[in-house]
Amino acid sequence: MSDRTLRVEVPGKINLHLQVLARRPDGYHELQTLYQAVDIWDRLSATSASRLTLASDSLELDCGDDNLVLRAARLLQRKAGVADRGAALRLEKAIPVRGGMGGGSADAAAALILLDRWWELRTPEARMQELAAELGSDVPFFLRGGSALGLGRGERIQTLPFVGDCHVLLLHPPFGIATAEAFAGLGSRLTLPRIGVSLPRLKSFKWPQDNDFGVFVNDLESVVFDLRSELRSASAELKQAGARVAMLSGSGSTVFGLFDQLSSARRAAEKVGSAYPEWRVVLSRFVRGGVRWGSNAD
Ligand code: C5P
Repeated sequence: MSDRTLRVEVPGKINLHLQVLARRPDGYHELQTLYQAVDIWDRLSATSASRLTLASDSLELDCGDDNLVLRAARLLQRKAGVADRGAALRLEKAIPVRGGMGGGSADAAAALILLDRWWELRTPEARMQELAAELGSDVPFFLRGGSALGLGRGERIQTLPFVGDCHVLLLHPPFGIATAEAFAGLGSRLTLPRIGVSLPRLKSFKWPQDNDFGVFVNDLESVVFDLRSELRSASAELKQAGARVAMLSGSGSTVFGLFDQLSSARRAAEKVGSAYPEWRVVLSRFVRGGVRWGSNAD
């Protein structure tokens, strides 16, 4: 058996804007969202094995059959007619679990991309998008990463030109939020008047020239801040520490602050780090693309 290893790294994401337009008959919500990949990477590697297995360095993660990586692998096996192939997969986590940064979705996209190459399938891009959408609303975004508009339930992706260089401070509490719980909490709030941010405005947004952040929102924020008031305080703390914008990422629990200067992001990291000693503070930045390949030499 060969000792070949193939490795891929996949970034996390934040939502610079997340507007919930309506509840759909299928139970999902119709969204308009601006995804941005950020510099925090999960790593997935494959080595030879006769069947599919998954191991991880994260104690928070269940590596059983329901893990999105294994679900992605089995979906690809089935659709490509290669149910007899295997791989020993190993996942190293950096993206917070249940943090609203798309960690599980990123790992599913990484699994599709990695195993497509490992099994030499050459699945067309459009087919990969379909498989990704079947696995979860955020998964298609991670096939390309960078800056992108997400429509439908978030799975219909329009890749945009890179929004611009920006420093991001990620503040992750010692608890997660279940996406379904955040959406369920919206309830009647959906009937409130919505702020309209037009699609052309979202598509042409550039950091830091545009001051559109005044109108950008995350509609899940008030629901999640009501569930966990410490997240509201943390967001306010980020603003006080100099963030131009502070927001909940996706359905939480991570909150993020945006900064023009690395020096001000570093100062804020120290300040919020001492105010929230139990929380994980990560200095990050916007990234242009998505997955990057590694090799045995890494
Ligand atoms: O698509 P995904 O499986 O990641 O979504 C997880 C849950 O989040 C869904 O089961 C649904 O309850 C909620 N959701 C939603 N509307 C979306 C995306 C997710 O209601 N657009």
